[in-house]
Parts: sequence; structure tokens; C-alpha cells
Amino acid sequence: MKKQSNANSPINQPWKASLDRVNKIIMTYNIATLPGDGIGPEVVEQAVKVMNAIGQKHGHTFKFTYAPVGATAIDSTGEPYPAETHELCMNSDAVLFGAIGDPKYDNDPKATVRPEQGLLKMRKDLGLFSNIRPVAPFKSLLHRSPLRQDLVEGVDFVVVRELTGGIYFGQKGRSEDGNAAFDTMYYTKDEVRRIVALGFDYAKKRSKRLTVIDKANVLASSRLWRETVQEMEPNYPDITVDYMFVDNAAMQIIQWPKKFDVVVTSNMFGDIISDEGSVITGSLGLLPSASIGTHTGVFEPVHGSYPQATGKDIANPIGMVLSAALLLELGLNLVDEAKAVRAAVDASLTAGVVTEDISEGGKAYKTSEVGDWLAKEIMTGVKA
Ligand code: IPM
Ligand code: MG
Repeated sequence: MKKQSNANSPINQPWKASLDRVNKIIMTYNIATLPGDGIGPEVVEQAVKVMNAIGQKHGHTFKFTYAPVGATAIDSTGEPYPAETHELCMNSDAVLFGAIGDPKYDNDPKATVRPEQGLLKMRKDLGLFSNIRPVAPFKSLLHRSPLRQDLVEGVDFVVVRELTGGIYFGQKGRSEDGNAAFDTMYYTKDEVRRIVALGFDYAKKRSKRLTVIDKANVLASSRLWRETVQEMEPNYPDITVDYMFVDNAAMQIIQWPKKFDVVVTSNMFGDIISDEGSVITGSLGLLPSASIGTHTGVFEPVHGSYPQATGKDIANPIGMVLSAALLLELGLNLVDEAKAVRAAVDASLTAGVVTEDISEGGKAYKTSEVGDWLAKEIMTGVKA
């Protein structure tokens, strides 16, 4: 592997990637590829096909280097996020991440090493303090939403979730007699400021509204969030900020999803709210996410490892492929290439080239067939 300082990552130097493109330099991008568990490897394979097609069409080389994470990594190395995997991520331009999780750990609360620890360690060690989860339904799938079509049409919001703090990382433990346990929701003002600043940036680029979701009527850490956001508000005079308690927000996302534009919230509330948001689109299998922070960005679908489908070539690869689009856009600053991927995905949905979860009695394509179709569409399609 070529040793490459992460300072060269386009995340830190967006101008560099743009300049190289203007100069038509053929770039080689190093992609740390972490398929993980369950259906992770199958969906990652489709994203790799799609990126290779983009590379051929647009004159880039993507070099995929694979490394273990999650249960697979525990089995082979004893660690859910081995040091070698971290090293690879640190020295890459972006991380393509499948999914982690295995039922043999879910059903064993006493397991001391768990696949999820790998994901959390990766987020912490790469400094990925933000998780961006866009929620927008696809026109051709509107009728699949559990919500009425008129509520869903036009929904377009983004959840900006804090990812390396809060109750996930606060002090936790068990009483000596084992009969009590605790987790601490702990935030510093600095942690709140950096994620909220990102929320403001997104709001600036979108409809200039920012919704802060918390539980300030009960939690001291939420009151710190509000206080911090209120201190920041004067710096963003053109942005309208509103505050919502998380229980109320959970309700309103279902009742009036169109009302939301940019939502910024803590780690655990963001976990819950983004799952809720994702089903509005009709399938959890469709949504991508980007985790961005101090070091290399990680791009992964919102869905999990779907163990029941492992190896069956039936999982929906679209959430993963759209995560590759986010990787191109936010990780490598290849905006047109990201658009081409999204256009191919739209075309596949319109053409009914879809996996069984959304095929509704029509032909159910295999995971690999959807990947092949998308790659071909990118190579030969009009829009892509
Ligand atoms: C997610 C997942 C993870 C989280 C789990 C697997 C630890 O639910 O990325 O949303 O809670 O952050
Ligand atoms: Mg989650």
C-alpha cells in the first residue's frame, strides 16, 4: 500500500481534487474496503462494480484494499477493529464500509467482545464526529412508504447526527453486585459546537432552516446543547433555528415529514430519528450515510448486516451504492461522478431492476444482477 498522508485527502483539501480534475490528471484513489458481516460483502461488491464503471467512464482509478471489521474480524483476529484495519483507513482517501453484526453476539449479552465495538472504535479513532443521513424518497417508490403518498411526496431532509460523543461514549458500568448498570450522556460545548456548525453549514446550503432535536426539558446535556446553539445563532443571522424535544420530533417526522429540512442532534437521538426517517422512503435498504470528521471519511448504508439473507444474493445493494455516491461527492469531491451513480440508480428503479424487497410481484433481480445493470448503465446510459 502506498503510504499517503491523510492531509492529502480531498476532504481536507477540496481544492486539490478540483484542480486535478481541471488539469485532467488521472487520479488514483485509495479506497479502504471493509465489507464486514452478513450481507456486507455482497453489497460492497456491487458498489465496487459501480465505482469501477465510474472510473472507466470518467478516467479515474480506484484502488480497493480490503480489511476485516466486525464479527468477521473477531473470528480472524480476536479484535472487531484490528490495528491493521485502522492503519489502512488512515492511509486511504475514503472508506467503503458494508455492515457489521452477527446474531451469535446479539443473543449473548455476556459476550465481552462485540462486533459493534468495532464500529464505535472506528468512528472514535478516525474522529468521525458527524454522520450525515439524507432522507428523500424515490418517485417510483412513493407508494411503498408506510405513510400516505401525499405526506411523503416532496420529503427531503437530512439528519446530522453527532457520532463520537454522548451516551455511546460516556462513562458506563455495572454495580459491584451486578444488579445495576449505568450509561452517561456526556457532552462538552466543543463537541456540540462542531456538530452544530456543520448543521448550520448544511442549512445554509439548503432551505436555511435548522431543527435542533433534544430533551432539554429533562436532560442537563440537552440544556447544554440549547445553550450552545443559542450562543451560535447570532453568527448565522440568515438561518432560522427551531428546537424540538425528541419525543415530539419522533411524532412530527411521521405526521409532517415535509416540515423538516436539516436536523441536528446527539448520537443516540440521531440513531433513533434516522432509522425512523429511513422507513419513510419505503425501504431501509435504500439509504446511504456518510461519516465525516478529522480523518478519512467512512461511507456506509444505514441498514445493518441482515444475517438471514447472507450469501443468498437477495439483499438490496442500493443503500450501499448510494453510499458510494456520497463517497465520490463528499469524500473525493467527484460531484459529477456522484450524480452519474444517482442517475443510474434512478434508472434502475424506474426500469424495475430491483431486488425482492421492492419488486412487488414483478421480477426480483439478484443483488449481483442489480450491480451489473448499474455498472452497464453507467458505461452506456444516456444520463450517466
Ligand atoms: C447505526 C447503527 C449503530 C449505531 C450500531 C450498529 C452500533 O445502529 O449506525 O445507526 O447505533 O450507531
Ligand atoms: Mg442505527
